[in-house]
Amino acid sequence: MAEKSVSRRNFVKTGAVAGAGLLIVSPETAFGSVANSSLGLGIIGCGGRGNYDGGEFLNNTDVRVTALMDVFEDRLQSTRANLSKQSEAKGRPAVPEANLFKGHKAYEKLVQSKDVDLVLVTSPPYFHPDHLEAAVSAGKHVYLEKPVATDVTGCLKVKNIGKKYDGKVSMHVGLQKRYDVGYRGMVERIHRGEIGDIILGQTFYYTNDLGRQNKPGMSDLEARIRNWVFDRALSGDILVEQNIHILDIVNWALKSHPVKATGTTGRALRKEVGGVPADYLCSDHFILTYTYPGDVHISFNSNQFKNRGYRQSGERFFGTKGASDSLQSGPATINYNQLEEGQKVADKVDCGKVDLHAAVGTKMKVLVDGIKSGSFQNECDLGAETTLTTILGRMAAYKGQEVSWDKMMKSGENWNLKLNLDSLGNGGAVSMKG
Ligand SMILES: NC(=O)c1ccc[n+]([C@@H]2O[C@H](COP(=O)([O-])OP(=O)(O)OC[C@H]3O[C@@H](n4cnc5c(N)ncnc54)[C@H](O)[C@@H]3O)[C@@H](O)[C@H]2O)c1
Repeated sequence: MAEKSVSRRNFVKTGAVAGAGLLIVSPETAFGSVANSSLGLGIIGCGGRGNYDGGEFLNNTDVRVTALMDVFEDRLQSTRANLSKQSEAKGRPAVPEANLFKGHKAYEKLVQSKDVDLVLVTSPPYFHPDHLEAAVSAGKHVYLEKPVATDVTGCLKVKNIGKKYDGKVSMHVGLQKRYDVGYRGMVERIHRGEIGDIILGQTFYYTNDLGRQNKPGMSDLEARIRNWVFDRALSGDILVEQNIHILDIVNWALKSHPVKATGTTGRALRKEVGGVPADYLCSDHFILTYTYPGDVHISFNSNQFKNRGYRQSGERFFGTKGASDSLQSGPATINYNQLEEGQKVADKVDCGKVDLHAAVGTKMKVLVDGIKSGSFQNECDLGAETTLTTILGRMAAYKGQEVSWDKMMKSGENWNLKLNLDSLGNGGAVSMKG
């Protein structure tokens, strides 16, 4: 067991796992030797998050990074150098040269590697359902970054994968806020009824523009793949790809998904991005209203603008007895504005420190400890439901009309691009000399 890891039993006692909405089962262990040895981690998609999550797995668990896969050689090389350096500093082996897999089909080789027990999927969201399916069908545990898919068809596929492999492997989704001390404290208080019945909520995600990754001389296809965050088919649009963390808190607090949504969207400042076809360019803002069961209304606003001077995201819930207020930068509080006479409760309760970096580490410990103890965890339904919540808002905003959850689920929405990625890689394993 990793020196710094939290015992799963202790974690369950604190209610952290149960609170996060996980389904935990205790099946026969698929990997007999895993309980006493460190897991081999393979990474599909070696960009910013692959490096961050890979580093956090090293910092918070005793995994060894044993394999990398990407469509681009520069990403493989820089990630190997970065994660090997971090591994060696901890006395763990460098990423083996023989386990670098390049090309868009090479994930099939990574998941088959005997050196890999756990697969981190940090590729663009469009590819997530296929990458998840390949990993679990090869008997590997998975940490799948959010969103689980970009369309309804992909979300349904992930739900089915969750059902089929439940208890056979662990499947986590990168919605780390559910593992944060402050958020957990706040949602537990909401669930205990401390703000009464929620009547309405105000939620938002305002942020800066993202950096362009294309360089002169790149083919349109390469530029498009590198700039996937601006491509609605590859990312799901900013609502699905980035704003999902906020709507996940709403579903968690309300213990439900919305019944319908209305909204609007636009592209005021984002006019052109290298490689991304004009029809596929992501919006730069969304304004939505979600209705949850019991006629609870939640407003959601977001932007992804360059230098607009205000960057913050958060959630405010207003109930019959009080209100909650949580910001990504912290704190998370419960507020009582009208105390009954003689009531001794403070008018503002601090729910705990919001530290989303620490939350990622906690989540990784829970996953690895669960795998080692044979208590496999399954977040596929949770991840699909939150992703579908964002897709509902996107559908309403694109159409400019109200869309119900049922209508969305029956829409058959399928954003298959039929992309031919052969020119991006050779589809097999390559030896990366030097
Ligand atoms: N949980 C969080 O807070 C959080 C934060 C950031 C990103 N993410 C998620 O992580 C994922 C990756 O985001 P990122 O910021 O690292 O993007 P990125 O562009 O930096 O990295 C993506 C990597 O995937 C590679 N890639 C492209 N097509 C591929 C394919 N077909 N197969 C395999 N690899 C492919 C790219 O070359 C790149 O190296 C996204 O799903 C994103 O939403 C999550």
